[in-house]
Amino acid sequence: MITPNMHYADLKDSYLFYNIAQKTKAYLAQNPDKRLLRLGIGDVSLPLCDAVIKELHSAVDDQASKERFHGYMPECGAPFLREAIAEHYHKLGVMLSLDEVFVSSGASDELGDILDLFDRKSTCLVIEPAYPAYVDANIMAGRTIVHLASGKENGFLPQPSDAAKADILYICSPNNPTGAVFSREQLQAWIDFANENGSVILFDAAYEAFIEDDTVPHSIFELEGAQRCAIEICSLSKTAGFTGTRLGYTVISKQLVRNGMNLNDMWVRNRTTKTNGVSYIIQKGAAAVFTDEGRRQINENIKIYKENAKVIMRALDKLGIWYCGGKNAPYIWLRCPNNMGSWEFFDYLLNEIQVVGTPGEGFGKCGEGYFRFSTFGSQADTQEAAKRLVQLLGEVHRFAAFCAFRCRC
Ligand code: MLT
Repeated sequence: MITPNMHYADLKDSYLFYNIAQKTKAYLAQNPDKRLLRLGIGDVSLPLCDAVIKELHSAVDDQASKERFHGYMPECGAPFLREAIAEHYHKLGVMLSLDEVFVSSGASDELGDILDLFDRKSTCLVIEPAYPAYVDANIMAGRTIVHLASGKENGFLPQPSDAAKADILYICSPNNPTGAVFSREQLQAWIDFANENGSVILFDAAYEAFIEDDTVPHSIFELEGAQRCAIEICSLSKTAGFTGTRLGYTVISKQLVRNGMNLNDMWVRNRTTKTNGVSYIIQKGAAAVFTDEGRRQINENIKIYKENAKVIMRALDKLGIWYCGGKNAPYIWLRCPNNMGSWEFFDYLLNEIQVVGTPGEGFGKCGEGYFRFSTFGSQADTQEAAKRLVQLLGEVHRFAAFCAFRCRC
């Protein structure tokens, strides 16, 4: 009889966001008259911008034309899109050749797929709290995971140490879920550490478009030595509303070599074997994001999400609740009030005010006692959620409401 991958038995029963979706579904089934205000998963609420839509329509028309029709696309990405992405990096001062840019169907897909480059015996470091797919994808592969806890005391931005030694180092900046961002100096320390130890950094840059602070790097390749140790994985999901459209990109320098193997060449070998490329239509739409007009339009949308962040932060300020993030990232990470557990706070908000957030514990043990709000909800929902939060947790009602809830549990 075939033996399935037994490492699946080491996973939690269900994936964090699936679990939350099931809980909210069950709540709605019992309370069909209620409307949920969703500030949980980081899924965008604004439609694709006009520049993208126009290109998507025109690409659909191309596919109807004998002269302009496209069949299989190049596995690593269409030259027109690789060029547009390389040009985007150029503006950050990062020079890339087109064959260092890989077009993907999204960062989450790529974060899982890229692990093919590494031996299953290699160890991986996850700085927690962390996006749960880092951990789950490595559990599935049977890798040993080094969990490095971060906390309020280091601003959720730990620095390298012997306890952080591993072959694969996950770094996400701006961070999901905490919204914390590494400064140039802090990130440089990780690059130097990786190069000294022969590790590879998997740099998740999915939220770089939300950086406001001029001194913070958008790409790890802005820093010295990164080309020799890092792979950068980025996405248009949050930058340009592509969560349902799917497009991402990955940068692997030709200089990244471990054990005599060139990781760029290996990834070409992998992609040409395992994919037939991203659809022509989607790549055309994505290229519009990198035009001046596309950039201007997506920035208008990002501005709206940043307004949402301000609305939530004002509510938390009013309530005297500790939080971080929200400035250079679309997530706000807060301390649960009244020492509530993070799932307890999740249930409390769902039951009392129909606001859905994400319990910090879902991002690792050290996330217990914290909670995450996404700023990608609609403006109306975010404003309503902030109002309900203040009403629920405000000075006058706080203890009565909380005690009443605890008694019912
Ligand atoms: C999140 O909410 O953490 C993200 O939206 C999940 C994802 O990008 O897959």
